[in-house]
Amino acid sequence: PLIRREDYSAPAFWIKSVDLTFDLDPAKTLVINKMQLERNLDVPAQALRLHGEDLNLTRVLVNGESVSFRHEEGLLVIDSLQGVPAGPFTLEIRNTCAPEKNTHLSGLYTSGGGFFTQCEAEGFRRITYFLDRPDVMAVYTVTLRANKQQYPVLLSNGNLVEQGELDNGRHFAKWNDPFPKPSYLFALVAADLVAREQWVTTRSGKNHLLQVYVRRGDLDKTEHAMNSLIASVVWDEARFKLPLDLERFMIVAVGDFNMGAMENKGLNIFNTKYVLANPATATDSDYLGIESVVGHEYFHNWTGNRITCRDWFQLSLKEGLTVFRDQEFSMDMAGSASARAVKRIDDVRTLRLSQFPEDAGPMAHPVRPDSYVEINNFYTATVYDKGAEVVRMMQTLVGRDGFAHGMTLYFERHDGSAVTCDEFAQAIADANPQSELARLLPQFKRWYSQAGTPRVTARGRYDAPSRTYTLLLEQSCGSTPGQAEKQPFVIPIAMGLVARDGRALALQLEDEALPASGAYPQERVLVLSENREFFTFVNVDEEPVPSLLRGFSAPVTLADGLSDNDLLLLLQHDTDPFNRWEAGQRLALARLLAAVRGDGDLQLDQPFIGAMRGVLTHPTLDAAFKELLLSPPSEIYIAEQLESVDPQRVHAAREAMRMQLAQALRDDWAVAFEANQATGGYAPDPISVGKRGLANLALNMLCLDAVARGDTVWPGRAYQRFKDASNMTDRQGALWALLASHSELAEPALARFYELFKGEPLVIDKWFTLQATAPESGGRVFARVKALMNHPDFTIKNPNRARSLIAAVCMGNPAAFHRSDAAGYVFWADRVLELDGINPQLAARMARVMDRWSRLAEPYRSAAREAVSRVAAKPDLSSDVREIVTRALADA
Ligand code: ARG
Ligand code: ZN
Repeated sequence: PLIRREDYSAPAFWIKSVDLTFDLDPAKTLVINKMQLERNLDVPAQALRLHGEDLNLTRVLVNGESVSFRHEEGLLVIDSLQGVPAGPFTLEIRNTCAPEKNTHLSGLYTSGGGFFTQCEAEGFRRITYFLDRPDVMAVYTVTLRANKQQYPVLLSNGNLVEQGELDNGRHFAKWNDPFPKPSYLFALVAADLVAREQWVTTRSGKNHLLQVYVRRGDLDKTEHAMNSLIASVVWDEARFKLPLDLERFMIVAVGDFNMGAMENKGLNIFNTKYVLANPATATDSDYLGIESVVGHEYFHNWTGNRITCRDWFQLSLKEGLTVFRDQEFSMDMAGSASARAVKRIDDVRTLRLSQFPEDAGPMAHPVRPDSYVEINNFYTATVYDKGAEVVRMMQTLVGRDGFAHGMTLYFERHDGSAVTCDEFAQAIADANPQSELARLLPQFKRWYSQAGTPRVTARGRYDAPSRTYTLLLEQSCGSTPGQAEKQPFVIPIAMGLVARDGRALALQLEDEALPASGAYPQERVLVLSENREFFTFVNVDEEPVPSLLRGFSAPVTLADGLSDNDLLLLLQHDTDPFNRWEAGQRLALARLLAAVRGDGDLQLDQPFIGAMRGVLTHPTLDAAFKELLLSPPSEIYIAEQLESVDPQRVHAAREAMRMQLAQALRDDWAVAFEANQATGGYAPDPISVGKRGLANLALNMLCLDAVARGDTVWPGRAYQRFKDASNMTDRQGALWALLASHSELAEPALARFYELFKGEPLVIDKWFTLQATAPESGGRVFARVKALMNHPDFTIKNPNRARSLIAAVCMGNPAAFHRSDAAGYVFWADRVLELDGINPQLAARMARVMDRWSRLAEPYRSAAREAVSRVAAKPDLSSDVREIVTRALADA
């Protein structure tokens, strides 16, 4: 059934406290659930309706007496509680569940011989009957009982209050969490684990115990996660004055996990991918991923847990804000302006790669959705990443200090409660009454209610006689499902004007008095709130080139009509590193699109090659920044610019560009490779990361050029480097260089890689992914993927492994996936149907691969629709997958 935001009503009962006892057994776990409830006198008297899913109910007692009850589509109904007198009463429920049969990985399940939980969004109802909604907040006491030898570690939220021995080799632990919380933040772990521990003292002088729990043998991969956790604690206190509020903070890694990680109060549960790292097994980007996810979950303790969501439509209240916070954290950790820019560029690339297509396709929805069938389908790039951009725009409109004040007011007002996105925006605006945000708040909030990516068009006109430069800014936004017409957004546009010699011009608006500082700024934020607006700058001596949307100040697309020459100027001289990068990307994109739209032929021109050479040989640019500038836009991003997409043509054009850059800059790549060898021991600091990244790109280009010429020197060097590498970044980089250049040495390298790492699941995931994402040639990559499905190490039941092969080829390798014989689509449909019976959440994620089917050119389009229809035709399809494919098919 469709759930609508406007149908929200407060619960008829509150659950004040809950005392849970678990007798843990993989086949049949007994749950004794004793709750203190109270009628909510603000709503009309109703029966008590508790959520429950896949449970066996054995007893229901109200105030110690058995009562009659009935089941009603996923609900346990106790009619006799309608109109109970005000005041608390107790409800005791006993039920069992079967953790080892729980392949959904939602609720209580087993993994690697231990017990773990995942309750967000609606997994708690798969553990026991409850008001499983985020506005019902209770204090939890939890007793775990289990075999001591098999499950020596027993964890739940909060503080350990008691532990001891039981009969028959069993033991118990009792935990209490003093903070009232919604059920989605409940967690338990019972497993054979070991922990890295660290005591930290916060500013108040309190001591806290930090723990990272992993399986025996993985302790040597926990240092970075622990360091990231310590840094997170320090950062949140320094930047937002938000201290750790628990005596103990635990992270537990688990190998079977649907998502990245989960912020359960005091007991974060993580996918091993975002915990385990050492230089031999993890790449630089793994290290960065761990830092940001550890930060993200830790920051949820305030933005999510202390203040939570009233209902799931408000998901971005916690997710958008917490992504913004983890992005800021990573930027502050990066340090230098250049390293901050690299992080920002990375985040924008992610947004454009996943959120822009989402906003343009059948799953487009506002940051605060209006309806859903399955809430798990709305843990999206829009809610997370566009939501973070919306928070970032607020910070831009009120300033960094103003935003921090707004956060303080938000906690003053709402700590301990479950609120909506309105309350958040209101607090930021109220703390900054003079700001543009306060002035435009109702209109600003359209970012929460209107889906779609706005398009901003800019036209500049220089008038020499009056020495004025006038910018006309216009906005529009295409229709999205259920929203034909859009009202104008509030769009902050950070900008500057660049003179032909590269100077940044002073920005004086018409009638503007000299600021107290004595000089007009060289950068400012124009706030566009109408459909079209003029901004006139005075005292402009010559025709400038506008640099708009600096730092990607709003999640929009920009059409500013700049010429190649303008872009080359910005690439060289813009003071804003984001726009420098963007200028380079746009130069590349224009050439790629011309080739794809035209006769398919791509012949790079000297100005472009010269500009790229200028970047590569630049004496002062950071390596990381060079790498970003020299990497052509991704195939997905290119495809998004086209009305009708032939993935093979896109691939061919991009490969041609790579090959020509490899050839034209051959000697410069060689110099860059030698000049960017990171020295000393491995460290994932921005400078070393940048060097490794650029050296690996250079090696890739050198091999590409060499293999094309039949030269074996560079591939030989790459193989040697692969063998001798002292860290995974260089090892994988060298292997990728061989794969991406179709070198004969790729095969022996792959075989060797497998032998080296067959005991390391996360590295074997990489091994599958490398093969699935290698540049397609003649269908060999796709054939290999199909063969790998039968590899003894492949299992579709482990989400990381399933993603490492299936999602990798379907989403990460368009040229292998989109085949004129439709075999890719048949493969996709078979896998989605197979997964649907095992893990609907994961199946629904994989189903999203086909979101953009209607944009495909023939013959792809018809074949894709047929595959989606075949999935939709399965009679007992999960509601998760059904929602995705139904929306996809509605997209004509
Ligand atoms: N709140 C978690 C996080 O962002 C994600 C949990 C998502 N779980 C789900 N079943 N959809 O950090
Ligand atoms: Zn989150």
